[in-house]
Amino acid sequence: MTSLSINRKVQDTLGRNVRDLRISVTDRCNFRCPYCMPAEIFGERYEFLKREEILSFEEIVRLARIFVGFGVQKIRITGGEPLVRSDVANLIDDLASIDGVTDLAMTTNGFLLPRYAQDLKDAGLDRLTVSLDTLDEEVFKLMSGRPYGPEKVLEGIEAAHDAGFSPLKINAVVQRGVNEQTIVETAEHFRGTGDIVRFIEFMDVGSLNDWDLSQVVSGKEIIDLIDSKFPLEPVDANYRGEVASRYRYVDGCGEVGIITSVTQPFCGDCTRARLTTEGRLVTCLFATHGTDLKSPMRSGASDDELSEIIERVWMARRDRYSELRSAKTDMTSVQSGREKIEMFRLGG
Ligand code: GTP
Ligand code: 5AD
Ligand code: SF4
Ligand code: SF4
Repeated sequence: MTSLSINRKVQDTLGRNVRDLRISVTDRCNFRCPYCMPAEIFGERYEFLKREEILSFEEIVRLARIFVGFGVQKIRITGGEPLVRSDVANLIDDLASIDGVTDLAMTTNGFLLPRYAQDLKDAGLDRLTVSLDTLDEEVFKLMSGRPYGPEKVLEGIEAAHDAGFSPLKINAVVQRGVNEQTIVETAEHFRGTGDIVRFIEFMDVGSLNDWDLSQVVSGKEIIDLIDSKFPLEPVDANYRGEVASRYRYVDGCGEVGIITSVTQPFCGDCTRARLTTEGRLVTCLFATHGTDLKSPMRSGASDDELSEIIERVWMARRDRYSELRSAKTDMTSVQSGREKIEMFRLGG
């Protein structure tokens, strides 16, 4: 292995650096959210990736180091559901020790947090984001594709607090006619706790969820709904390129966010690279393909050779999918006809 040339900053064709790396560590999940892994497709017979097909922890850490050499400071571990991969805390431990990583986070559905929250904290994870679309028992069943309510996730949230993760971010995808009537209840539940709920506009990720615009509740509508019960005012972003727009309760009881990929896209500041479970570099959430890093790595490529591949891909990057979609008057998918990579392979 040759030594890695550090601080090899690269910009894409739109002048964007690479600052965040989102790593999907498994394509498996213990939920079957119909908008992501519909149970009728992902049944017992569905063939998930085999162990030898997915990146090992050593391979992930090696690539993460290389990305840090390009200026990545933020790493987010996702899936699928990252906590179904065994010993994921060991991976966190290794990633936390990379010089230059200033923010190490994980997005999880929370179900396994009662078991693993403390291990994650001890391993050096900085932040946790928990996906929770609704608190309503029946709506939760519908949206998670599982026969139980949100209790286990709420226990997971408590376990995360007990382990010292505070504040948490709570991600809630909103679908018209499914959970829009529970938005205010979700906001109210977390009001005053310090945790920050971010409501996400339902997006046309992947090719399995039959997305159309009529299922999207706009961020503006979401804010108006909450504001009518608990008055809100906008707050400046924490940092340039923050995905969520922030609002705070006028009475000081905390904040909420909206993620408006559909109605107000944020591609202009998108500095996110994604690494799929099987080791492909993907430069947009809505991409149809990625660049294989696993094969060169397994055929003996040096760090410098891998860096060259990454540099080439990033310098050619032109992605601004959400902006292009929004520019179409009917806002239909921009890639129709070509299969987009599914969210559970890409990690959100
Ligand atoms: P912070 O680091 O806490 O600011 O979190 P984040 O908002 O960057 O990350 P998180 O994973 O919580 O993102 C929330 C959701 O926003 C994701 O699950 C996606 O649904 C959506 N999202 C994140 N990044 C992108 C992106 O690059 N493009 C689009 N269209 N949506 C994104
Ligand atoms: N639109 C918006 N958000 C989605 N997520 C998964 N699929 C979609 C979609 N089509 C969310 C999950 C989780 C995060 C990883 O992305 O609910 O909060
Ligand atoms: Fe699993 Fe998250 Fe996909 Fe739901 S959205 S099926 S919790 S990976
Ligand atoms: Fe980035 Fe693609 Fe999302 Fe735009 S649509 S913000 S380019 S990931």
